[in-house]
Amino acid sequence: TAPHTFRIAAIPADGVGKEVVAAGRAVLDALAADSAGSPRPFAFSWEEFPWGCEYYERTGRMMDDDGLDRLREFDAIYFGAVGWPTVPDHVSLWGLRLRICQGFDQWANVRPVHFLPGVTSPLRKADDTDLDWVVVRENSEGEYAGLGGRNLAGRGPGGEVAVQTALFTEVGCERIMRFAFDLARTRARRKVSSVTKSNAQQYGMVLWDDVFRRVAADYPDVETESVLVDAMSAKFVLRPEELSVVVASNLHADILSDLGSALAGSLGLAASANLNPERRHPSMFEPVHGSAPDIAGRGLANPVGAVGSAALMLDHLGLPDQAARLRRAIETTTAAGVRTRDVGGTASTEDVTKALVEALNA
Ligand code: NAI
Ligand code: MG
Repeated sequence: TAPHTFRIAAIPADGVGKEVVAAGRAVLDALAADSAGSPRPFAFSWEEFPWGCEYYERTGRMMDDDGLDRLREFDAIYFGAVGWPTVPDHVSLWGLRLRICQGFDQWANVRPVHFLPGVTSPLRKADDTDLDWVVVRENSEGEYAGLGGRNLAGRGPGGEVAVQTALFTEVGCERIMRFAFDLARTRARRKVSSVTKSNAQQYGMVLWDDVFRRVAADYPDVETESVLVDAMSAKFVLRPEELSVVVASNLHADILSDLGSALAGSLGLAASANLNPERRHPSMFEPVHGSAPDIAGRGLANPVGAVGSAALMLDHLGLPDQAARLRRAIETTTAAGVRTRDVGGTASTEDVTKALVEALNA
């Protein structure tokens, strides 16, 4: 049988994004090559887009104006990281990553945290039962709705005022919470923890809580809790074993998922999927970390977060067995001690990538 070809748009963008996307592509291509002759062969057809901060310096744009139209025809987007010291961070983030997430209504951002054998967590007690949860991030509104303004009411330099408004809609809250509950039903522990701040933020976060209670009533088989974000940050450290699915607003989940990946050992390990669950638009898969200018271009970047994101992409493309194979390869590699510097090893990005490819067939 002819292989089924998935069309993937690669956007490495900036800094270590380039290194980890190259690593992820190499591992995915090895997986596809190995599927030749199997009952369900598949292949990837890649198109790489040069967008990012260097592109901005040349053209004044982070991506082309018709960029979304060109991306629309792909089965998925494989993204690196955006941001470089030469471009203000809000320009680069809004000009590329947020434009794609919001333009394609990728409203569910799924960020799993796993224990990996051979990686030391900063937690005293950490194994595969303690560290196994998924942060579900509302990815379309909330604190990152982009609403607000500067220098309102004609105030000038020295008296400037800025407003940054968080937008919470009933529809937006409800769809992310249903997504979290549906995900909880697929997990060993059926529990959803909602992150809130309704004691201090009496409009948006109280709507969030109201919708959470209403949706929870439709899932009587799923355990629930509602935890204030400050207390939740402590709980991540002190009682991680009580977490399964954590649903949170755009900002809260952004912060908590970096904390979660640090607890798992490094920001370089964490994977993420920006999903348009209705599949009207392509979804985007990217490591949680940024462009890491402090280590970029030196072969120090940990590719595990990007490769884990590739596994999430395989799940989305309907290849869960291949995704599982990729995750096993990650575990084999870390357990064997082939690790980058951020997780206590001496291996380069390329060494880890080679080991991952070899482990696919182990
Ligand atoms: P960062 O995630 O790039 O780096 C934070 C720390 O983690 C650094 O010490 C870095 O060396 C380390 N780190 C990150 N990825 C790693 C990897 N794969 N392997 C080993 N170590 C790794 O966050 P930072 O420094 O706050 O931001 C740098 C730039 O990235 C900024 O321009 C920011 O706006 C952008 N950014 C972009 C994101 C995206 O595209 N999704 C997400 C977060 C930040
Ligand atoms: Mg972040």
